[in-house]
Amino acid sequence: MTAPSAPGGARDPGGRSGPGSSSGADAFDDGGEPSGPPPSSLPPWPYPRWIAHRGAGRLAPENTLAAFALGHALGYRMFECDVRLSADGQAFLLHDDTLERTTDGKGPALARTWAELARVDAGAWHSPPYAGARLPTLDEVLDFCARHDCALNLELKPAPGDARRTGATVAAEVAEGARHAAAAPLPVLSSFDVEALEAAATVASALPRALLLEGFSPGWLETAQRLGCVAVVGEQSAWTPETAAVAARAGLRRLAYTVNDEAQASRLLALGLDGLITDRVDHFRP
Ligand code: G3P
Ligand code: MG
Repeated sequence: MTAPSAPGGARDPGGRSGPGSSSGADAFDDGGEPSGPPPSSLPPWPYPRWIAHRGAGRLAPENTLAAFALGHALGYRMFECDVRLSADGQAFLLHDDTLERTTDGKGPALARTWAELARVDAGAWHSPPYAGARLPTLDEVLDFCARHDCALNLELKPAPGDARRTGATVAAEVAEGARHAAAAPLPVLSSFDVEALEAAATVASALPRALLLEGFSPGWLETAQRLGCVAVVGEQSAWTPETAAVAARAGLRRLAYTVNDEAQASRLLALGLDGLITDRVDHFRP
C-alpha cells in the first residue's frame, strides 16, 4: 500500500479485477451511446457505473449495514458512505458532525468514545422496522463488501479540526483490510477536504483518491492533480461538456453525486461519466 503514484496521470486505480465493472450501456436506458470524450488512454475502471449513496439512500437508514443490505438486494454492487472518527479514534459511518438527525444521541460525535457511540440507535429515526440499527464501524463495512463482492467509495467526512487524523486513520485501516480482500477493487477514498486526502495519500498512496467538488471553481484541476487523484466527483448539475472534457483530457475519471433525476442521469451518461451516485436504488437499475 505504499507504492507512489504519479499525480494526474492515467493509473490503474483498482489494481485488480473486481465486481461489476459495468459497461453502463445497460445501467440505464438513456437511448444512446455516451458522447463524451472516450477515456481511451486510461486503464480499465473496475467499478460499477451505479453507486448507492450513503449505503442505500432513503429506503433504509443512511450509513447503516441495513442500508447496504437493501442496496445489495436491489442489485447494487458499489456503495458510497461517510466515514469519520470517534474521540478515541474508531472509524465509523456517520454523515453529520452531530448525532441528532440520524441517531438518538446528542451533540458532536467527535466528543464521544466508540463505547458510547456503539450504543446509540441509528435506525429508529428512519422508521420502526429499523429501530435498533447501530452505527457501523469501518471494519464492519469492509467486511460486508468483502463478503458480498462489492466495491466502496469511502467519503472522508472529518469533524472540524480532525481532517489529518481522519484521512490517515481511515487510509491505514483500508490498506490493512485490503490485504485480506484481494478479489475486490480497492476502495476509492474521496473527500471535499484536501487535508484529509493529503493525509490519506501520505499513509497509503496506492489507495485511489477522488476529489469531491460542489462546483468547478478555479484551481480544481490543479488540486486534483496535486493530490494524485484518479477521479473527481462533481455535484451532478455542475458537470458540463467542458468540465467533462477537461477532466477526461487530464486522465481523471468522472463521477457525479447525487443523481436522482432521470433527465440528469441521461445527460451525465451522455457526457460519458464513469460513475453516478444515487439515492434512488429502487428506480435506477445498477
Ligand atoms: O460523496 C458524494 C456525496 O455523498 C457528497 O455529499 O453530503 O451526501 O456526503 P454528502
Ligand atoms: Mg457522502
